[in-house]
Amino acid sequence: MEIIIQPSSQEVCSLAARIVAKLVREKPAAVIGLPTGGTPRPMYAELVRMHQTEQLDFSRVTTFNLDEYVGLGPDHPCSYHYYMTENFFNHVNIPEKQTHVPDGLAEDVPDFCRHYESAIREAGGIDLQILGIGEDGHIGFNEPTSSLASRTRIKTLTQKTVDANKRFFKSDEIVPRHVITLGVGTIMEAKRCLLIACGQGKAVAVAAMVEGPVTAMTPASALQFHPSVVLLVDEAAAGRLALGDYYRSVYRNKPDWQR
Ligand code: F6R
Repeated sequence: MEIIIQPSSQEVCSLAARIVAKLVREKPAAVIGLPTGGTPRPMYAELVRMHQTEQLDFSRVTTFNLDEYVGLGPDHPCSYHYYMTENFFNHVNIPEKQTHVPDGLAEDVPDFCRHYESAIREAGGIDLQILGIGEDGHIGFNEPTSSLASRTRIKTLTQKTVDANKRFFKSDEIVPRHVITLGVGTIMEAKRCLLIACGQGKAVAVAAMVEGPVTAMTPASALQFHPSVVLLVDEAAAGRLALGDYYRSVYRNKPDWQR
């Protein structure tokens, strides 16, 4: 796992955007796995800027989102589909048919999940899976004790995640408890993973993911078994890493050919 510590969340997101842009320039028909939430918003803004001012071309890219609330359709302002439309899809030249977000209104959820998995396979698999992390160590919405071999399925959010996500809902709205999420096993099949985490609230989860044991209590720790993971964190989220100085020196002293 490559651990890159940046001074602030802005730098984390602009470096994340540069990694995505490099992939899209090298492989215009790349398949990219996308997260939502507060953390990646500036990354999407930077990708939109690169599209508008640097001709970054998304016309052949295919995307698969990680998760969606069960019961919320694409027009609901708190759905992840809506988030993607507002923050990214509407502002770049990606054809709608190449974007995929789990269907929160699917009538037969297990059947939908099987189709979502097949669609990823048919697209050739995910080249770069971008991830955030929950304070409880979830990736996608694989909450603690999720099977590390799990596939796309319905999950029930923990109270901690429901509370963390309340900020996106109006005060009188109920945060859905059920979500459709890519499984940990599905995420592990991506060719590369890029996890971004910012803020002190993520520090314990980040340390558990990188330096703790591999355990279903911290689903993100499964990434220790993945051959190609970049973890991009700001100083606050890196605050509990025991080997922080080592990771900083590895990054500073990278051979030129590796940069
Ligand atoms: C969202 C997702 C989640 C979030 C995580 C962090 O699509 O997969 O795992 O990445 O809950 O969310 P923020 O960035 O809001 O702290």
